Amino acid sequence: MSEIEYDLVVIGGGPGGYVAAIRAAQLGMKVACVEKRVTLGGTCLNVGCIPSKALLNSSEKFEEAQHELADHGVSVSGVKLDLKKMMARKDKVVADLTGGIAFLFKKNKIDHIIGSGTIEGPGVVKVKPAKGKARTLTTEDILIATGSESAPLPGVEVDEKKIVTSTGALELTKVPKHLVVIGAGYIGLEMASVWGRLGAKVTCVEFLNRITPGMDGEVAKHFQRILQKQGIEFRLGTKVTGAATNRAGVTLSLEPAKGGDAETLKCDVVLLSIGRRPYTEGLGLKAAGVETDERGFIKIDEHFRTTASGIYAIGDCVPGPMLAHKAEDEGVVCAEIIAGQSGHINYDAIPGVVYTWPEVAAVGKTEEALKEAGVEYRIGKFPFTANSRARANDLTDGFVKILADTKTDAVLGAHIIGADAGNLIHEVVAVIEFGGAAEDIARICHAHPTLNEAVKEAALAVDGRPIHM
Ligand code: FAD
Ligand code: NAI
Repeated sequence: MSEIEYDLVVIGGGPGGYVAAIRAAQLGMKVACVEKRVTLGGTCLNVGCIPSKALLNSSEKFEEAQHELADHGVSVSGVKLDLKKMMARKDKVVADLTGGIAFLFKKNKIDHIIGSGTIEGPGVVKVKPAKGKARTLTTEDILIATGSESAPLPGVEVDEKKIVTSTGALELTKVPKHLVVIGAGYIGLEMASVWGRLGAKVTCVEFLNRITPGMDGEVAKHFQRILQKQGIEFRLGTKVTGAATNRAGVTLSLEPAKGGDAETLKCDVVLLSIGRRPYTEGLGLKAAGVETDERGFIKIDEHFRTTASGIYAIGDCVPGPMLAHKAEDEGVVCAEIIAGQSGHINYDAIPGVVYTWPEVAAVGKTEEALKEAGVEYRIGKFPFTANSRARANDLTDGFVKILADTKTDAVLGAHIIGADAGNLIHEVVAVIEFGGAAEDIARICHAHPTLNEAVKEAALAVDGRPIHM
């Protein structure tokens, strides 16, 4: 019998897969990563986190130049949008970062094998490139990190031109006059912000009676009010039952979610963003004995082992939050476990951030979840209007909310809506990770003047003793 070529073959080169490959190589394994895209980085770097954040940043600058700089005594005139250039910048950011992963692969001596991977049997992965001959790899272990794809909606046929997923929404060649977003979640609100700032009228149609399900209810309400002030319209409690496309645009059929009279809504572009589903097509899971749950997620145990021996799975294709940093951390821990080490992930300390203006960030439990679990908690809240740096920088929208256990004072959750919330939240993530209390945050010396002082004040407010409020 011929020798086994690899210690580990990773299928999928996204944040889960490429990070696992690097960690496995650091631990001395001979690793191949099979990725069907020519570039590495997966959804996140190619068509997700990175291009969306590049456009959010550029559109924020456009907004600032048009509407905000004048308040600071900076006059600008003739502000114009060069969408082609904005897109080219975004593409360069993506190209630089995906190229960076290719460099890291070379540095760590990881074989990047371009093509679609199928598990042919224990330790055997067949790779079919878009052109040319298939190749078979032999390996001790296999790690599935094939990610997710946009969930479809019956009656709303995606063509990535007039009816787009996030991928098409990151590539539009002109600003839509009217963009209808189906689903007021992470993708919907980030893309609504980009195109709204660039001049589109934006309507978000959301099935539920609230935006961003899963987010703390009080924060979500505040968030919706701010987005409405920015001009985004919401049609809550409404479902889309069909879409008809013609040369002029798209006509959507809407109905109240609870049932009732139908109506139509015309627009030129529709973004379908009602969630993502695991992507495992063509992997040969069934034949390999890898079971999935009723929603298509690969079943794993606490060591990322699937139901087939020698096959592991991580990231968006397994249950849990569909976030790049969750996939990355699973990649690291899974590689360490395969190498015989131990490791674990604290799923109670995974932050989530919506990169709109202002940002919304959360970690741990929401008030709703604590109530449902019957946990007694105290709330500390502090508004950015009372924070001196926020006043100096004109960033007064929003607040910090910390939830702590009534008996032990342990921090159970934190929810921040405001400028730089995505960075601010990490202080609380670290405290939760170390099992800390609100009092611990309150006693840490925070530099003045910083937005972080609002986190300290919220922690003081848990015990009813904020200084500046
Ligand atoms: P993926 O990144 O999806 O990578 C899987 C890879 O596997 C893909 O490249 C795919 O081509 C490849 N593949 C699939 N099947 C095969 C096969 N059979 N053979 C070979 N290759 C295969 N998360 C955040 O944390 N922060 C954000 O700001 C953020 N923004 C986002 C914005 C958008 C528009 C989208 C769509 C997502 C965003 N996400 C964000 C989510 C994030 O992109 C995912 O959680 C993350 O990419 C999951 O990583 P993964 O490695 O599990 O899968
Ligand atoms: P989402 O789950 O965040 O939001 C989907 C929204 O669509 C929900 O509000 C849901 O109630 C609504 N919905 C579901 N079915 C509907 C229907 N038929 N009609 C109208 N509304 C409907 O999913 P989204 O925005 O597609 O993003 C997918 C995932 O990608 C996110 O959950 C997140 O994990 C990840 N992501 C993360 C980002 C970040 O970290 N900043 C940014 C973008 C995506």
